Amino acid sequence: MIADLPDFELEAYFSRWQGSMTHSFTASEAETMTVGELLALAGEPLEALAEVDLGYRSSAGSPSLRSEIAATYGQVGAGGVLTFAGAQEGLFWTLAELLRGGGHAVVTVPNYQSMESLPLSSPAEVTGLPLWRGSGADLRWELDLDRLEDMLRPDTRVVAVNFPNNPTGYLPGEATFRTLAAMCEERGIYLVSDEVYRGVEIDPADTLPQVADLSPLGVSINVMSKSFGLPGVRVGWVASQDTALLARLEGRKHYTSICNPGPSEYLATLALRHADQIHERVRGLIASNVELAADFFAEFGDLVAFESPRGGSVSFPRYLGTDGVETFVRRSVEEAGVMMLPASVYQSRLAPTPLDRFRLGFGRVGVPAAIRALRSHLNGEDRLSA
Ligand SMILES: Cc1ncc(COP(=O)(O)O)c(C=O)c1O
Repeated sequence: MIADLPDFELEAYFSRWQGSMTHSFTASEAETMTVGELLALAGEPLEALAEVDLGYRSSAGSPSLRSEIAATYGQVGAGGVLTFAGAQEGLFWTLAELLRGGGHAVVTVPNYQSMESLPLSSPAEVTGLPLWRGSGADLRWELDLDRLEDMLRPDTRVVAVNFPNNPTGYLPGEATFRTLAAMCEERGIYLVSDEVYRGVEIDPADTLPQVADLSPLGVSINVMSKSFGLPGVRVGWVASQDTALLARLEGRKHYTSICNPGPSEYLATLALRHADQIHERVRGLIASNVELAADFFAEFGDLVAFESPRGGSVSFPRYLGTDGVETFVRRSVEEAGVMMLPASVYQSRLAPTPLDRFRLGFGRVGVPAAIRALRSHLNGEDRLSA
């Protein structure tokens, strides 16, 4: 399966345009911290980091890190947590392991590309579950369980979802999410749930439960990258009540990262201990940037039908201009240095996705500057024409 993986469109787009970027208006990860800032937040001296050793460590993750992660779940102890190098490695081995014997998988669309490219390169058959109804101005994001039920087969092994969703910022109501977990459990289907944007919902009441708590067949994937703003520590995890599955995944991890770096485990443990403070700050940033963006796009209502995220740090609003979204996004980065992601990055092999959308990100302190630059650009005053 590894040899068959296609290019990762999002990373390829970033690589292509990074050199032109001055402002990111699309980052999915929250504002980051320096090592010193994180230590200060946790009340730890810099010397504490100097004492962390650089030897090999337990493949499953350090006991203190696994306990801190487990404390975020109700039904999972430290033994139900397996750490990985980011969410990416966790997704990689979870989907590869669950689908290596073939069968059938259902994956939500649009998606973070790993979610479909990995199943598609496995021996399984894959069906895409569109997360929307209608088109154009009438499009609404939704998780339709009747539609899912029609797709399920006796050999369905995995349903893979991601809420809060990248790129749409959509999340279903809690009752629907619980029904989804129950539907999968009744049928013996693993529910693989990418929960990396959980925890910074503008209204905390919208925060969904984690599937590892909802069902013995729930597999929760999470990471320090997004809601904590710490992608550089490269610590992610898979949590599940199914410890036999985790043991198999640990065996797979021996072929890739083997173990996490000690300094990363130490820093991730500190951040988890101060999750409330970190998430509060990120939630505030997202809320104020969303408000600013809503006001800004109201000035350009003939060009953009703005949508705010219901959860997480990104949304996928509609572009109305006659030049088309691909041109709009390309010219914004090329001429004004403002990076956004066009709909083409989220095209799926499983279902035709809306092509008039672009991804915005709200978790960074630079968003107001990005908005100022985009305003000048749209008013014809950007750096090339100045
Ligand atoms: C939905 C989703 N899952 C997983 C990942 C991968 O996370 P990481 O870079 O921390 O491995 C991303 C990163 O953008 C993502 O958006």
